[in-house]
Amino acid sequence: MSCTDAKTMVEGTDFEKKHTPMIECKDTVKTGEIFEVKIHTAGVEHPMDDGHFIQFMGLRIGDIPLARADLTQYAKPEVVFHIKAPSEGHKGTVMKLTAYAYCNLHGIWKYEKEIKIE
Ligand SMILES: [Fe+2]
Repeated sequence: MSCTDAKTMVEGTDFEKKHTPMIECKDTVKTGEIFEVKIHTAGVEHPMDDGHFIQFMGLRIGDIPLARADLTQYAKPEVVFHIKAPSEGHKGTVMKLTAYAYCNLHGIWKYEKEIKIE
């Protein structure tokens, strides 16, 4: 499994909505601020059954892993992370958050969101 092969929303089908992880968080954060990032599937909840479920959801900036949660068929495919915004030196920049979701049958999926650092 490689994150560079991750699929994402292209045509807006229910299949894509079930697998693409959406990022819900503020558009602008202050340097060093701890902010909440919620990840959930894009409008259609993925089934969490024996043999077919989302095994993990994670968050990265570029190649740097920030947080990851392993899931089972007994969990809802939705996670909340509390992330620390970059330090003073990054003021005025934009950081690109990438969320990942891994389905045991349908592979790795991603979604990106840019956040302003002020
Ligand atoms: Fe799936």
